[in-house]
Amino acid sequence: MAPDFVIFGAAGDLTSRYLMPALVHVIKAGHLDPDVAILGVSRQDWTTDRFREHIADRLKEHAANADPETVADLLGRLDYRQADVTDRAALSSIFDQVKGPAISYLALPPSLFIPTVETLADLDLPEGSRIVVEKPFGTDLDSARRLNRLLHDSFDENAVFRVDHFLMKQTIQNVLGLRFANRIFEMLWNRDHIERVEITWDETVALEDRASYYDRSGALRDMIQNHLLQLLTLVGMEPPISVNARDLRDRKVDVLRAVRRYDPDEVERLTRRARYTAGQVGETTLPDYAAEDGVDPDRRTETFAQVTFHIDNWRWSGVPFVVRTGKAMAADRHEIVIHFRPVPHLAFAQAPPPPNVFRFHLNPDRMALGVNINGPGDPFDLEHIELKTDCCRQELPAYARLLIDVLEGDTMLSIRDDEAEESWRIVEPILHAWSEGRVPLREYPAGSTGPDLS
Ligand code: BG6
Repeated sequence: MAPDFVIFGAAGDLTSRYLMPALVHVIKAGHLDPDVAILGVSRQDWTTDRFREHIADRLKEHAANADPETVADLLGRLDYRQADVTDRAALSSIFDQVKGPAISYLALPPSLFIPTVETLADLDLPEGSRIVVEKPFGTDLDSARRLNRLLHDSFDENAVFRVDHFLMKQTIQNVLGLRFANRIFEMLWNRDHIERVEITWDETVALEDRASYYDRSGALRDMIQNHLLQLLTLVGMEPPISVNARDLRDRKVDVLRAVRRYDPDEVERLTRRARYTAGQVGETTLPDYAAEDGVDPDRRTETFAQVTFHIDNWRWSGVPFVVRTGKAMAADRHEIVIHFRPVPHLAFAQAPPPPNVFRFHLNPDRMALGVNINGPGDPFDLEHIELKTDCCRQELPAYARLLIDVLEGDTMLSIRDDEAEESWRIVEPILHAWSEGRVPLREYPAGSTGPDLS
Protein backbone atom coordinates (compact mmCIF):
# COMPACT_ATOMS: atom_id res chain seq x y z
CA MET A 1 0.00 0.00 0.00
CA ALA A 2 1.39 3.44 -0.95
CA PRO A 3 1.92 5.65 2.11
CA ASP A 4 -0.34 8.59 2.84
CA PHE A 5 1.11 12.08 3.30
CA VAL A 6 0.88 13.93 6.59
CA ILE A 7 1.99 17.51 5.98
CA PHE A 8 2.95 19.45 9.11
CA GLY A 9 2.80 23.19 8.43
CA ALA A 10 -0.11 22.74 6.04
CA ALA A 11 -1.28 26.34 6.34
CA GLY A 12 2.17 27.72 5.55
CA ASP A 13 3.67 29.22 2.44
CA LEU A 14 5.86 26.24 1.54
CA THR A 15 2.83 23.96 1.38
CA SER A 16 0.79 26.18 -0.92
CA ARG A 17 3.66 27.56 -2.98
CA TYR A 18 5.69 24.38 -3.58
CA LEU A 19 4.14 21.18 -2.22
CA MET A 20 0.60 21.46 -3.54
CA PRO A 21 1.61 22.58 -7.06
CA ALA A 22 4.17 19.75 -7.04
CA LEU A 23 1.49 17.26 -5.99
CA VAL A 24 -0.64 18.41 -8.92
CA HIS A 25 2.25 17.46 -11.23
CA VAL A 26 2.83 14.17 -9.41
CA ILE A 27 -0.84 13.22 -9.85
CA LYS A 28 -0.88 14.34 -13.47
CA ALA A 29 2.24 12.29 -14.21
CA GLY A 30 0.52 9.23 -12.71
CA HIS A 31 2.83 8.83 -9.73
CA LEU A 32 0.26 9.01 -6.95
CA ASP A 33 -1.93 5.97 -6.35
CA PRO A 34 -5.61 6.91 -6.31
CA ASP A 35 -6.01 5.81 -2.69
CA VAL A 36 -3.23 8.03 -1.28
CA ALA A 37 -4.68 10.61 1.09
CA ILE A 38 -3.05 13.92 2.03
CA LEU A 39 -3.61 15.06 5.55
CA GLY A 40 -2.75 18.66 6.39
CA VAL A 41 -1.85 19.54 9.98
CA SER A 42 -1.33 22.98 11.44
CA ARG A 43 -2.29 25.16 14.37
CA GLN A 44 -4.87 27.13 12.39
CA ASP A 45 -8.42 26.58 13.54
CA TRP A 46 -9.59 25.37 10.12
CA THR A 47 -11.97 22.72 8.86
CA THR A 48 -11.12 20.46 5.92
CA ASP A 49 -13.37 22.62 3.72
CA ARG A 50 -11.53 25.76 4.75
CA PHE A 51 -8.20 24.05 4.04
CA ARG A 52 -9.39 22.94 0.61
CA GLU A 53 -10.58 26.47 -0.18
CA HIS A 54 -7.24 27.91 0.89
CA ILE A 55 -5.29 25.48 -1.29
CA ALA A 56 -7.65 25.92 -4.25
CA ASP A 57 -7.16 29.65 -3.97
CA ARG A 58 -3.37 29.51 -3.78
CA LEU A 59 -3.18 27.02 -6.67
CA LYS A 60 -4.77 29.66 -8.89
CA GLU A 61 -1.62 31.67 -8.30
CA HIS A 62 1.05 28.96 -8.05
CA ALA A 63 -0.30 26.38 -10.50
CA ALA A 64 -2.28 28.62 -12.82
CA ASN A 65 -1.99 26.25 -15.79
CA ALA A 66 -2.93 23.08 -13.96
CA ASP A 67 -5.86 21.29 -15.48
CA PRO A 68 -9.05 21.49 -13.37
CA GLU A 69 -9.51 17.72 -13.26
CA THR A 70 -6.14 17.15 -11.62
CA VAL A 71 -6.70 20.02 -9.20
CA ALA A 72 -10.06 18.49 -8.26
CA ASP A 73 -8.34 15.12 -7.75
CA LEU A 74 -5.84 16.75 -5.39
CA LEU A 75 -8.46 18.72 -3.46
CA GLY A 76 -10.55 15.57 -3.07
CA ARG A 77 -7.64 13.84 -1.30
CA LEU A 78 -7.12 16.63 1.24
CA ASP A 79 -8.12 16.34 4.82
CA TYR A 80 -7.23 18.68 7.67
CA ARG A 81 -6.52 18.39 11.39
CA GLN A 82 -5.73 21.21 13.77
CA ALA A 83 -2.88 20.27 16.10
CA ASP A 84 0.17 21.58 17.86
CA VAL A 85 3.24 19.53 16.92
CA THR A 86 4.16 19.10 20.57
CA ASP A 87 0.77 17.62 21.45
CA ARG A 88 1.43 13.90 21.63
CA ALA A 89 -2.22 12.90 22.02
CA ALA A 90 -3.29 14.98 19.01
CA LEU A 91 -0.54 13.56 16.80
CA SER A 92 -1.28 10.06 18.00
CA SER A 93 -4.92 10.39 16.95
CA ILE A 94 -3.81 11.78 13.57
CA PHE A 95 -1.64 8.73 12.91
CA ASP A 96 -4.49 6.46 14.06
CA GLN A 97 -6.50 7.92 11.21
CA VAL A 98 -3.78 7.01 8.68
CA LYS A 99 -4.25 3.47 7.46
CA GLY A 100 -0.66 2.26 7.20
CA PRO A 101 2.81 3.79 6.96
CA ALA A 102 2.86 7.52 6.38
CA ILE A 103 5.18 10.09 4.92
CA SER A 104 5.48 12.90 7.48
CA TYR A 105 6.51 16.08 5.69
CA LEU A 106 7.89 18.78 7.99
CA ALA A 107 7.00 21.95 6.07
CA LEU A 108 7.65 23.85 9.25
CA PRO A 109 9.85 26.66 10.52
CA PRO A 110 13.24 25.11 11.43
CA SER A 111 12.69 25.86 15.12
CA LEU A 112 9.88 23.27 15.10
CA PHE A 113 11.84 20.39 13.57
CA ILE A 114 13.24 19.12 16.87
CA PRO A 115 9.99 19.41 18.87
CA THR A 116 8.07 17.65 16.08
CA VAL A 117 10.56 14.82 15.74
CA GLU A 118 10.56 14.46 19.53
CA THR A 119 6.79 14.05 19.53
CA LEU A 120 6.90 11.61 16.61
CA ALA A 121 9.56 9.58 18.42
CA ASP A 122 7.02 9.02 21.19
CA LEU A 123 4.50 7.47 18.82
CA ASP A 124 4.68 3.99 17.51
CA LEU A 125 4.73 4.78 13.79
CA PRO A 126 4.01 1.84 11.50
CA GLU A 127 6.86 0.02 9.79
CA GLY A 128 7.70 1.67 6.46
CA SER A 129 6.96 5.24 7.62
CA ARG A 130 9.18 7.96 6.17
CA ILE A 131 9.99 11.52 7.12
CA VAL A 132 10.88 14.54 5.03
CA VAL A 133 12.78 17.38 6.67
CA GLU A 134 13.12 20.72 4.93
CA LYS A 135 16.18 22.89 5.08
CA PRO A 136 17.95 24.37 6.92
CA PHE A 137 18.69 21.14 8.75
CA GLY A 138 19.41 22.65 12.15
CA THR A 139 20.98 26.00 12.84
CA ASP A 140 24.49 24.81 13.68
CA LEU A 141 26.51 21.62 14.05
CA ASP A 142 25.13 20.80 17.48
CA SER A 143 21.49 21.15 16.52
CA ALA A 144 22.06 19.16 13.30
CA ARG A 145 23.65 16.34 15.34
CA ARG A 146 20.81 16.42 17.82
CA LEU A 147 18.24 16.31 15.06
CA ASN A 148 20.02 13.38 13.42
CA ARG A 149 20.09 11.48 16.70
CA LEU A 150 16.40 12.06 17.26
CA LEU A 151 15.52 11.02 13.72
CA HIS A 152 17.52 7.84 14.10
CA ASP A 153 15.55 6.98 17.24
CA SER A 154 12.44 6.48 15.11
CA PHE A 155 13.54 6.09 11.51
CA ASP A 156 16.15 4.18 9.55
CA GLU A 157 18.49 6.53 7.73
CA ASN A 158 17.03 5.33 4.42
CA ALA A 159 13.58 6.49 5.55
CA VAL A 160 14.82 10.03 6.21
CA PHE A 161 14.69 12.56 3.41
CA ARG A 162 16.62 15.76 4.13
CA VAL A 163 15.56 17.58 1.07
CA ASP A 164 17.46 19.97 -1.11
CA HIS A 165 15.40 20.84 -4.15
CA PHE A 166 18.46 22.20 -5.99
CA LEU A 167 19.61 18.62 -6.57
CA MET A 168 16.36 18.05 -8.45
CA LYS A 169 17.16 20.72 -11.02
CA GLN A 170 17.97 19.05 -14.30
CA THR A 171 20.81 21.34 -15.33
CA ILE A 172 22.47 20.74 -12.00
CA GLN A 173 22.18 16.98 -12.44
CA ASN A 174 23.89 17.51 -15.76
CA VAL A 175 27.10 18.33 -13.93
CA LEU A 176 27.26 14.58 -13.26
CA GLY A 177 26.36 13.58 -16.82
CA LEU A 178 28.88 15.93 -18.34
CA ARG A 179 31.67 14.92 -16.01
CA PHE A 180 31.18 11.18 -15.78
CA ALA A 181 29.84 10.22 -19.21
CA ASN A 182 32.47 12.02 -21.30
CA ARG A 183 36.12 11.24 -21.53
CA ILE A 184 37.13 14.71 -22.66
CA PHE A 185 36.15 16.72 -19.59
CA GLU A 186 37.04 14.53 -16.66
CA MET A 187 40.69 14.37 -17.68
CA LEU A 188 40.88 18.18 -17.40
CA TRP A 189 38.79 18.44 -14.25
CA ASN A 190 41.52 19.22 -11.75
CA ARG A 191 43.97 21.78 -10.42
CA ASP A 192 46.33 21.36 -13.39
CA HIS A 193 43.75 22.72 -15.82
CA ILE A 194 41.16 24.58 -13.80
CA GLU A 195 42.05 27.96 -12.36
CA ARG A 196 38.90 28.67 -10.38
CA VAL A 197 35.25 27.73 -10.04
CA GLU A 198 32.43 30.20 -9.47
CA ILE A 199 29.04 29.21 -8.16
CA THR A 200 26.67 32.16 -8.27
CA TRP A 201 23.05 32.38 -7.20
CA ASP A 202 22.02 36.02 -7.50
CA GLU A 203 18.28 36.55 -7.16
CA THR A 204 16.02 39.47 -7.95
CA VAL A 205 13.59 38.36 -5.25
CA ALA A 206 14.03 40.17 -1.96
CA LEU A 207 12.70 39.27 1.46
CA GLU A 208 9.08 38.89 0.30
CA ASP A 209 7.00 37.95 3.34
CA ARG A 210 9.57 35.60 4.87
CA ALA A 211 11.04 37.81 7.59
CA SER A 212 10.14 35.45 10.42
CA TYR A 213 12.34 32.78 8.86
CA TYR A 214 14.89 34.70 6.81
CA ASP A 215 15.88 37.32 9.36
CA ARG A 216 16.99 34.54 11.70
CA SER A 217 18.75 32.73 8.92
CA GLY A 218 20.50 35.01 6.43
CA ALA A 219 22.10 34.20 3.09
CA LEU A 220 24.85 31.96 4.44
CA ARG A 221 22.49 29.62 6.28
CA ASP A 222 19.64 29.92 3.76
CA MET A 223 21.61 29.18 0.60
CA ILE A 224 25.30 28.40 1.07
CA GLN A 225 25.19 25.90 3.94
CA ASN A 226 22.90 23.65 1.92
CA HIS A 227 22.11 24.35 -1.75
CA LEU A 228 25.36 25.90 -2.88
CA LEU A 229 27.65 23.57 -0.95
CA GLN A 230 25.73 20.74 -2.60
CA LEU A 231 26.55 22.20 -6.02
CA LEU A 232 30.16 22.44 -4.94
CA THR A 233 30.15 18.72 -4.10
CA LEU A 234 28.89 17.82 -7.58
CA VAL A 235 31.61 19.87 -9.24
CA GLY A 236 34.31 18.65 -6.86
CA MET A 237 33.56 14.96 -6.30
CA GLU A 238 35.60 11.99 -7.46
CA PRO A 239 33.90 9.68 -9.98
CA PRO A 240 31.38 7.49 -8.13
CA ILE A 241 31.46 3.72 -8.68
CA SER A 242 27.83 3.93 -9.74
CA VAL A 243 25.07 6.46 -9.51
CA ASN A 244 23.20 5.16 -6.49
CA ALA A 245 22.39 6.48 -3.03
CA ARG A 246 25.45 5.08 -1.33
CA ASP A 247 28.15 5.74 -3.92
CA LEU A 248 27.00 9.20 -4.88
CA ARG A 249 26.65 10.38 -1.30
CA ASP A 250 29.95 8.78 -0.25
CA ARG A 251 31.72 10.81 -2.90
CA LYS A 252 29.86 14.01 -2.01
CA VAL A 253 30.71 13.72 1.64
CA ASP A 254 34.37 13.16 0.74
CA VAL A 255 34.36 16.63 -0.81
CA LEU A 256 32.69 18.22 2.20
CA ARG A 257 35.23 16.58 4.49
CA ALA A 258 38.02 18.09 2.41
CA VAL A 259 36.60 21.62 2.45
CA ARG A 260 38.83 23.65 4.73
CA ARG A 261 37.37 24.81 8.04
CA TYR A 262 38.53 28.40 8.30
CA ASP A 263 40.23 30.10 11.21
CA PRO A 264 39.10 33.67 11.97
CA ASP A 265 41.84 35.23 9.82
CA GLU A 266 40.81 33.16 6.85
CA VAL A 267 37.18 34.14 7.43
CA GLU A 268 38.26 37.78 7.30
CA ARG A 269 40.15 37.28 4.08
CA LEU A 270 37.90 34.86 2.25
CA THR A 271 34.33 35.83 3.11
CA ARG A 272 32.12 38.87 2.50
CA ARG A 273 28.67 39.74 3.77
CA ALA A 274 26.26 42.54 3.02
CA ARG A 275 22.63 43.57 3.17
CA TYR A 276 20.57 45.57 0.73
CA THR A 277 19.50 49.15 1.15
CA ALA A 278 16.54 50.86 -0.52
CA GLY A 279 16.35 50.56 -4.28
CA GLN A 280 14.41 49.44 -7.28
CA VAL A 281 14.33 45.89 -8.67
CA GLY A 282 12.43 45.96 -11.95
CA GLU A 283 9.03 47.44 -11.12
CA THR A 284 9.41 46.86 -7.40
CA THR A 285 10.56 49.58 -5.05
CA LEU A 286 12.21 48.15 -1.96
CA PRO A 287 12.97 49.76 1.39
CA ASP A 288 16.21 49.15 3.27
CA TYR A 289 16.33 45.50 4.32
CA ALA A 290 16.64 46.75 7.90
CA ALA A 291 13.31 48.58 7.53
CA GLU A 292 11.39 45.63 6.05
CA ASP A 293 8.41 44.38 8.05
CA GLY A 294 9.41 41.84 10.67
CA VAL A 295 13.15 42.53 10.42
CA ASP A 296 15.15 43.25 13.55
CA PRO A 297 18.00 45.49 12.32
CA ASP A 298 20.08 44.56 15.35
CA ARG A 299 20.36 40.99 14.15
CA ARG A 300 22.47 42.37 11.29
CA THR A 301 21.30 39.60 9.00
CA GLU A 302 23.08 39.41 5.66
CA THR A 303 21.14 39.23 2.38
CA PHE A 304 24.34 38.71 0.41
CA ALA A 305 27.17 36.31 1.19
CA GLN A 306 30.29 35.28 -0.63
CA VAL A 307 32.72 32.61 0.51
CA THR A 308 35.85 31.48 -1.30
CA PHE A 309 36.16 27.83 -0.31
CA HIS A 310 39.24 25.66 -0.60
CA ILE A 311 39.08 21.91 -1.05
CA ASP A 312 42.22 20.47 0.46
CA ASN A 313 42.80 17.34 -1.57
CA TRP A 314 45.00 16.15 -4.41
CA ARG A 315 42.56 17.14 -7.15
CA TRP A 316 41.71 20.65 -5.99
CA SER A 317 44.52 21.97 -3.83
CA GLY A 318 44.94 25.69 -4.52
CA VAL A 319 41.82 26.11 -6.68
CA PRO A 320 39.41 28.69 -5.25
CA PHE A 321 35.69 27.88 -5.31
CA VAL A 322 33.98 31.26 -5.12
CA VAL A 323 30.42 30.77 -3.95
CA ARG A 324 28.04 33.72 -3.73
CA THR A 325 24.40 34.53 -3.39
CA GLY A 326 22.38 37.68 -2.92
CA LYS A 327 18.81 38.85 -2.73
CA ALA A 328 17.31 41.95 -4.42
CA MET A 329 20.01 41.91 -7.07
CA ALA A 330 19.73 43.56 -10.49
CA ALA A 331 19.24 40.28 -12.35
CA ASP A 332 18.77 36.59 -11.73
CA ARG A 333 22.11 34.94 -12.33
CA HIS A 334 22.18 31.25 -11.50
CA GLU A 335 25.26 29.50 -12.74
CA ILE A 336 28.28 27.33 -12.17
CA VAL A 337 31.28 28.53 -14.12
CA ILE A 338 34.46 26.52 -14.57
CA HIS A 339 37.38 28.77 -15.53
CA PHE A 340 40.19 26.85 -17.21
CA ARG A 341 43.79 28.00 -17.12
CA PRO A 342 45.21 29.92 -20.09
CA VAL A 343 47.14 28.03 -22.76
CA PRO A 344 50.79 27.61 -21.75
CA HIS A 345 52.07 29.40 -24.86
CA LEU A 346 50.21 31.46 -27.45
CA ALA A 347 51.58 31.07 -30.97
CA PHE A 348 49.43 33.89 -32.36
CA ALA A 349 50.80 37.42 -32.40
CA GLN A 350 47.97 39.07 -30.51
CA ALA A 351 46.79 39.74 -27.00
CA PRO A 352 45.88 36.49 -25.27
CA PRO A 353 42.21 35.59 -25.79
CA PRO A 354 40.09 34.67 -22.77
CA PRO A 355 40.81 31.17 -21.46
CA ASN A 356 38.24 28.39 -21.90
CA VAL A 357 35.19 28.52 -19.73
CA PHE A 358 32.48 25.95 -19.11
CA ARG A 359 29.17 27.31 -17.93
CA PHE A 360 26.17 25.50 -16.44
CA HIS A 361 23.52 28.12 -16.63
CA LEU A 362 20.03 27.97 -15.16
CA ASN A 363 17.14 30.13 -16.38
CA PRO A 364 17.40 29.44 -19.24
CA ASP A 365 18.82 25.94 -18.79
CA ARG A 366 21.92 25.98 -20.88
CA MET A 367 25.43 24.58 -21.02
CA ALA A 368 28.10 26.55 -22.85
CA LEU A 369 31.76 26.01 -23.61
CA GLY A 370 33.77 29.12 -24.42
CA VAL A 371 36.52 28.36 -26.95
CA ASN A 372 38.90 30.38 -29.11
CA ILE A 373 38.82 29.84 -32.86
CA ASN A 374 40.13 31.54 -35.92
CA GLY A 375 37.68 34.33 -36.61
CA PRO A 376 35.75 34.90 -39.81
CA GLY A 377 38.01 37.74 -41.13
CA ASP A 378 41.77 37.38 -40.94
CA PRO A 379 42.19 33.65 -40.31
CA PHE A 380 44.89 34.36 -37.73
CA ASP A 381 42.73 36.70 -35.70
CA LEU A 382 41.34 34.72 -32.83
CA GLU A 383 37.76 35.00 -31.74
CA HIS A 384 36.17 33.74 -28.54
CA ILE A 385 32.90 31.94 -29.20
CA GLU A 386 30.48 29.90 -27.13
CA LEU A 387 29.40 26.42 -28.16
CA LYS A 388 26.12 26.23 -26.39
CA THR A 389 23.09 24.08 -26.08
CA ASP A 390 19.76 24.99 -24.60
CA CYS A 391 19.32 21.73 -22.89
CA CYS A 392 17.72 20.08 -20.01
CA ARG A 393 14.23 21.52 -20.16
CA GLN A 394 12.68 20.13 -17.05
CA GLU A 395 9.44 18.18 -17.49
CA LEU A 396 8.56 18.21 -13.81
CA PRO A 397 9.33 20.97 -11.30
CA ALA A 398 12.04 20.22 -8.75
CA TYR A 399 9.57 19.70 -5.90
CA ALA A 400 7.54 17.19 -7.91
CA ARG A 401 10.67 15.15 -8.61
CA LEU A 402 11.57 15.33 -4.96
CA LEU A 403 8.15 13.99 -3.92
CA ILE A 404 8.39 11.17 -6.43
CA ASP A 405 11.73 10.13 -4.94
CA VAL A 406 10.16 10.15 -1.48
CA LEU A 407 7.21 8.07 -2.70
CA GLU A 408 9.60 5.60 -4.31
CA GLY A 409 11.85 5.53 -1.25
CA ASP A 410 14.86 6.67 -3.31
CA THR A 411 17.26 8.63 -1.10
CA MET A 412 19.97 9.16 -3.72
CA LEU A 413 19.29 12.88 -4.03
CA SER A 414 18.44 13.54 -0.43
CA ILE A 415 21.08 14.71 2.02
CA ARG A 416 22.57 12.00 4.19
CA ASP A 417 23.09 12.55 7.94
CA ASP A 418 26.87 12.97 7.64
CA GLU A 419 26.55 15.43 4.74
CA ALA A 420 24.29 17.69 6.79
CA GLU A 421 26.75 17.67 9.67
CA GLU A 422 29.82 18.26 7.49
CA SER A 423 28.16 21.30 5.91
CA TRP A 424 27.69 22.85 9.33
CA ARG A 425 31.28 22.02 10.25
CA ILE A 426 32.34 24.18 7.29
CA VAL A 427 29.93 27.06 7.83
CA GLU A 428 29.97 27.32 11.60
CA PRO A 429 33.35 29.08 11.98
CA ILE A 430 32.24 31.64 9.42
CA LEU A 431 29.05 32.34 11.33
CA HIS A 432 31.03 32.57 14.49
CA ALA A 433 33.58 35.06 13.15
CA TRP A 434 30.78 37.10 11.58
CA SER A 435 28.91 37.26 14.88
CA GLU A 436 32.08 38.63 16.47
CA GLY A 437 32.15 41.39 13.86
CA ARG A 438 35.36 40.12 12.20
CA VAL A 439 33.88 40.81 8.75
CA PRO A 440 32.08 44.13 8.17
CA LEU A 441 28.46 44.03 7.09
CA ARG A 442 28.59 45.97 3.82
CA GLU A 443 25.66 47.47 1.96
CA TYR A 444 24.43 47.43 -1.62
CA PRO A 445 21.43 49.17 -3.14
CA ALA A 446 18.59 46.83 -4.06
CA GLY A 447 18.63 46.39 -7.83
CA SER A 448 22.44 46.68 -8.07
CA THR A 449 25.02 44.04 -8.91
CA GLY A 450 25.94 43.70 -5.24
CA PRO A 451 28.37 45.21 -2.77
CA ASP A 452 31.92 46.38 -3.33
CA LEU A 453 33.86 43.24 -2.48
CA SER A 454 37.33 44.71 -2.23
C1 BG6 B 1 15.12 28.42 -1.07
C2 BG6 B 1 15.63 29.60 -0.29
O1 BG6 B 1 15.52 27.21 -0.47
O2 BG6 B 1 15.62 28.47 -2.40
C3 BG6 B 1 15.19 30.89 -0.97
O3 BG6 B 1 15.10 29.55 1.03
C4 BG6 B 1 15.64 30.90 -2.41
O4 BG6 B 1 15.70 32.01 -0.26
C5 BG6 B 1 15.18 29.63 -3.11
O5 BG6 B 1 15.05 32.03 -3.03
C6 BG6 B 1 15.75 29.55 -4.52
O6 BG6 B 1 15.25 28.40 -5.14
P1 BG6 B 1 14.55 28.46 -6.55
O7 BG6 B 1 14.28 27.06 -6.91
O8 BG6 B 1 13.31 29.31 -6.36
O9 BG6 B 1 15.55 29.13 -7.45
